Amino acid sequence: MGTCLHPLWLAVFLCLGRIVSGIELDINDAESVKSAAATAAYGMMTYYHGNESGQIPGKLPGTWWTGGEVFMALVQYWYWTGDTSYNDVTKQALIWQRGHNDYLPDNYTQDLGNDDQVFWGLAAITAAELKFPEGEEVSWLALAQGVFNTQVEKWDADTCDGGLRWQRNSWNGGYDLKNAVSNGGFFQLAARLARYTKNETYGEWAEKAWDWATSVPLVVEKNWHINDLVTVDSQCKSSSGDQWSYNYGIYLNGAAFMYNWTDGDTKWKGAVEGLLNTTWRNFFPEEYGGNIMREPCEPQLPQVTPCDGNQSTFKSLVTAWLALTTTIMPYTVDVIMPKLQGSAIGAAKQCSGPSPDKKCGQRWYLDEYDGTTGLREHMCALSVFTANMLPFKEESGGKGPVTSDTGGTSKSDPTAGTGSRKPEQNEPREITTGDRAGAGVVTVVVVGAWLGLVAWMMTGP
Ligand SMILES: *[C@@H]1O[C@H](CO)[C@@H](O)[C@H](O)[C@H]1NC(C)=O
Ligand SMILES: *[C@@H]1O[C@H](CO)[C@@H](O)[C@H](O)[C@H]1NC(C)=O
Ligand SMILES: *[C@@H]1O[C@H](CO)[C@@H](O)[C@H](O)[C@H]1NC(C)=O
Ligand SMILES: *[C@@H]1O[C@H](CO)[C@@H](O)[C@H](O)[C@H]1NC(C)=O
Ligand SMILES: *[C@@H]1O[C@H](CO)[C@@H](O)[C@H](O)[C@H]1NC(C)=O
Ligand SMILES: *[C@@H]1O[C@H](CO)[C@@H](O)[C@H](O)[C@H]1NC(C)=O
Repeated sequence: MGTCLHPLWLAVFLCLGRIVSGIELDINDAESVKSAAATAAYGMMTYYHGNESGQIPGKLPGTWWTGGEVFMALVQYWYWTGDTSYNDVTKQALIWQRGHNDYLPDNYTQDLGNDDQVFWGLAAITAAELKFPEGEEVSWLALAQGVFNTQVEKWDADTCDGGLRWQRNSWNGGYDLKNAVSNGGFFQLAARLARYTKNETYGEWAEKAWDWATSVPLVVEKNWHINDLVTVDSQCKSSSGDQWSYNYGIYLNGAAFMYNWTDGDTKWKGAVEGLLNTTWRNFFPEEYGGNIMREPCEPQLPQVTPCDGNQSTFKSLVTAWLALTTTIMPYTVDVIMPKLQGSAIGAAKQCSGPSPDKKCGQRWYLDEYDGTTGLREHMCALSVFTANMLPFKEESGGKGPVTSDTGGTSKSDPTAGTGSRKPEQNEPREITTGDRAGAGVVTVVVVGAWLGLVAWMMTGP
């Protein structure tokens, strides 16, 4: 405190100097990494109120899918650090939002994309694989199976010979698109279910989802480029969209699970290695040494980030998936670990926002706090710090994701999610500000058309 009592100009200088020093992180020291992760987790949870009275567990303002990411990150945080502080709130959220054991909760289902749903399913399979304490209502494995079953129903062989559409329902904007993350999410979930349960049906679906994605220009095998989406109108021949890290991460990690499940099949080895190459090239720019992750939307403005609320979360997913890949494809650790370490060091420097809580910023490649902060910035920092527990967990016997043969006890229910559920209907209703912009517009148009039809019938020809 003493330095701040100097003459004013000096005081301002020194106090600023103090504020911009990030959280201390020594990546070679388990306690230091753990403490950085704990700080980020705490910071993230200051933005979460779902467990307070009158609030909805698992639901974040303005988004439903990001809840899946938050609680997936916390399951991994618990596993790699052993800190149980957030286990209750995590279990409560994962159970509350379960819908009919399919992560299609009635409140939100009519506007959900396959991608929104699958992130909760991936959180559930992560909980099963890492042996997160089970809830009483339903097992983590069954929840993942419920998501799988309700996505298989949406497999659309009528157009482009297969694939999932982005949206589950025809009234939502984006139904005419088949996108990488929805199909990649289904692929990864099926691959993980195959490995966990040893049930071939999941493996066949994973293979089918992969082969389809490589048959249209979503996953381009010749150069391992991933396009964000293809349009149904073009018979899935025309692709567009920006480059996003989670598209690469979601296929890469799914391929790593297939590699492990098939005991090292060269098809999957080639896929992982190819996608690692393009992941490094696109998201770990050489100009910052090649070991610090950067989402392409990050650099565009000096202070205010142009990444939207979805894009600002991708680093959390990708760093966690890279870490997971090293546990099931052990030889990749030598190429992956330096990227996770460089990114964590960058993230620690960003966690130097206003005192006392040292808020975390977004751009890990900058030396000084970038002025942004929020739940998403903290979640990304949390995931990359957690990933840096890997070397220490191995020493203490941590094995990574289990299967039903290697200690996994999450109860299987191959029929989960196929029971009675409210049909997904486009009901006229109040549109809330949290709705996706595109979907909201379509809803208005459809409701408008319906009212028009009613008026026409009442006045009669
Ligand atoms: C909500 O969870 C936080 C941990 O993130 C905890 O500190 C707080 O006590 C919980 N609140 C309630 C009302 O359970
Ligand atoms: C659905 O909405 C109601 C009313 O806001 C709320 O009480 C309930 O917790 C919500 N359920 C879920 C799963 O979000
Ligand atoms: C990945 O990059 C390395 C180094 O540039 C190269 O040797 C290797 O052939 C690439 N692998 C694939 C599958 O593209
Ligand atoms: C996420 O993406 C959807 C669809 O593109 C968009 O409508 C929504 O506003 C985005 N959410 C956030 C929190 O940015
Ligand atoms: C599959 O993962 C296990 C760890 O769960 C690992 O011991 C094994 O070597 C992996 N298999 C292959 C082919 O890498
Ligand atoms: C394997 O999974 C399929 C698809 O969900 C299911 O129909 C079948 O009953 C499962 N088999 C076993 C032995 O669990």
